Amino acid sequence: MSNTSAGEVVVELRNVRKEYPTGWGGTILALDDVSFEVYRGEIFGLVGPNGSGKTTTLKLILGLIFPTSGEIKVFDSSPFDISVKNKIGFLPDGPYFYDFLNADELLDFYGRLFGYSKSERKERIEQLLDLVGMKRFRKMPLRNYSKGMMQRIGLAQALINDPDLLLLDEPTTGIDPIGAHDIKQLMLKLREQGKTIFLCSHLLADVQMICDRVVILNLGRVIRKGTVKELLEPTAVTEIVAREVSEEVFKYVSELGATVERRDGDVVFRLLDHDRAPEVIETIRSHNGHVVSITRLTETLEDVFIKAVKEAGAPQIT
Ligand SMILES: Nc1ncnc2c1ncn2[C@@H]1O[C@H](COP(=O)(O)OP(=O)(O)OP(=O)(O)O)[C@@H](O)[C@H]1O
Ligand SMILES: [Mg+2]
Repeated sequence: MSNTSAGEVVVELRNVRKEYPTGWGGTILALDDVSFEVYRGEIFGLVGPNGSGKTTTLKLILGLIFPTSGEIKVFDSSPFDISVKNKIGFLPDGPYFYDFLNADELLDFYGRLFGYSKSERKERIEQLLDLVGMKRFRKMPLRNYSKGMMQRIGLAQALINDPDLLLLDEPTTGIDPIGAHDIKQLMLKLREQGKTIFLCSHLLADVQMICDRVVILNLGRVIRKGTVKELLEPTAVTEIVAREVSEEVFKYVSELGATVERRDGDVVFRLLDHDRAPEVIETIRSHNGHVVSITRLTETLEDVFIKAVKEAGAPQIT
């Protein structure tokens, strides 16, 4: 396995281009010169507008389609190498299974594909149904499942072979807030176990919260990549949390155009101009107030995404 200073590389794309035939002689350029790597033990986020090439990237990593040019390596092998498949779990966008099966039968089927014995399958299915909160519905045919229930079973199926690399295409789509929270916790738990997670998602707040590194795609091109921290630039806004703030100080800070809010008995000032922070702190202290914390706020991933896509040129809706 190749190593860099950042760690062991699990997935590597080098100058990948993917064109699809349109069916009437032309081609659609889905990926254009895409290069990035995913390291072992990280949660990697791939984000981008609709049609930017996320699912295409996943399909290439899974060896479901061929690149037009460029190189893809998964665990230092070709994605078409059979030995690699055993180490990968995949949750497609809107999973579809044989809907006459129930959850027990479906998971048993996938367990058999991976060569697990009957007792191993039984144990694993119990664990997985518990993990995705679907024990109650194990005997219900899949055709009667709701969208979120299907998504949960899809996740159990993706985990059946205890994969080292988990590829998830919109895993929380259609899942209720508690289920979505559970899935995020599960991703964090799997990372703790040393698993690598490749997450495609439109939920940028979640990506910001749980991902280590992120690539932003637009029209098939990488327009930003880096750790979440690297991507989020500091803003001019500074938050000062203080106690025992006098009326005089309130008035003074409000006149500077800061917003004021109370939080757990503390006063939170949000200054729009970072440069005014030293004088505000000095004023609070000179009026016998106590400064609890000073934080320069950063952009959100959503801010970065919108800015980057606008700069790169969003497709026109006509
Ligand atoms: N099988 C296909 N044949 C022709 N064009 C395709 C095919 N699959 C995808 N495309 C095109 O490739 C581009 C990238 O599609 P892709 O599904 O990878 O985007 P995505 O980022 O996953 O989008 P979304 O956020 O909507 O899921 C789009 O222009 C799409 O129309
Ligand atoms: Mg997609």
